[in-house]
Amino acid sequence: MTPTLSPEALRHRIDQLPRARLAHLPTPLEEVPRFAQRIGEARVFIKRDDCTGLLLGGNKARHNEFLLGDALDQGCDMVVWGAGVQSNNCRQTAAGCAILGLECRLYLSRGHYSTEPQGNLLLDYLVGAKVEFTDAVIGPELDALLAAKAAEFRAAGRKPYFWHRPRVVPLAAISYAACVAEIVQQLAEKNLKPDAIYVSSSGATGAGVALGAKLLGLTCPVRLICPMHWPWHIPTALAKDANDAAEMLGLSHRLTAADIDADESYVAPGYGKPSPAGQEALRLLASTTAILTDPVYSAKALAGLIADVQAKRYAKDAVIVFIHTGGVPAIFANPSEVWPANEVGSARD
Ligand SMILES: Cc1ncc(COP(=O)(O)O)c(C=O)c1O
Repeated sequence: MTPTLSPEALRHRIDQLPRARLAHLPTPLEEVPRFAQRIGEARVFIKRDDCTGLLLGGNKARHNEFLLGDALDQGCDMVVWGAGVQSNNCRQTAAGCAILGLECRLYLSRGHYSTEPQGNLLLDYLVGAKVEFTDAVIGPELDALLAAKAAEFRAAGRKPYFWHRPRVVPLAAISYAACVAEIVQQLAEKNLKPDAIYVSSSGATGAGVALGAKLLGLTCPVRLICPMHWPWHIPTALAKDANDAAEMLGLSHRLTAADIDADESYVAPGYGKPSPAGQEALRLLASTTAILTDPVYSAKALAGLIADVQAKRYAKDAVIVFIHTGGVPAIFANPSEVWPANEVGSARD
């Protein structure tokens, strides 16, 4: 069996990669006893990756340290990126580009979103991204559009860095292996170990958390609560991304699909659409801790955590870590989804 690494040894490996320092790290790990008391008998710790900085926080601050570091290392002068209109990914990529002096071109998939400058989209404009809307669907279709746009810029003499999934997903995943090392060290300072880790992801973040757990020898459940379905088998794809990341780090550890606990049962009513359980989770966390989740990623993941604790999946006083991936600006894009109009002005029991 391949020996596990210490958090320091993992960090040392990761430090060899090109990196742009963009995030506020380490993020705090906060225990939230009032919230925990309301959901069952576990201890809940929130890894505050909503506080990574880079234009209001979130998981893409960590990703972008490596992605934009890679862009600079390759001598790129612009970034060609895309996702949904309210993409947190694009907001933080645009922010990183503004800091590093890279031109940022965003191709945002309309889907069901309004294109009013609100929430993340407003922030994209403010930090100087050049935005175009498209009807290309997030996934293979939008990936192909981004590759085509990058080729056009290249032909015009530019050096674009673009959303090329086979490179950017494993590289971004490395940043979340580092996050797991941070968590292990922060818990060790309290003489604790994680009994479960939860995160919202169907992609790089989850691949990185699963990889970090494997490299550090954690045996606790690592529950990836998926915000979306993909047209591919998520555990197989994420195991491959994690293995590609391990390879980039020069490590021989390997994961299989069985190492990826991706739960797709919280996606409904659809990607980017709030769910009743997520809305309850958002409100419970906010009203017991004053910590906000976003409505469609971290809220749904928190709903998954709550359901597992309530189903008594863990022992009393188990240490449950929730990695808060941020996304809070989306709340302001659709406030009525978060606080329905018929509840405005009404007291809630
Ligand atoms: C707030 C938030 N959480 C989680 C995720 C999922 O991250 P990943 O694409 O790495 O799975 C996203 C993706 O955009 C996000 O915006």
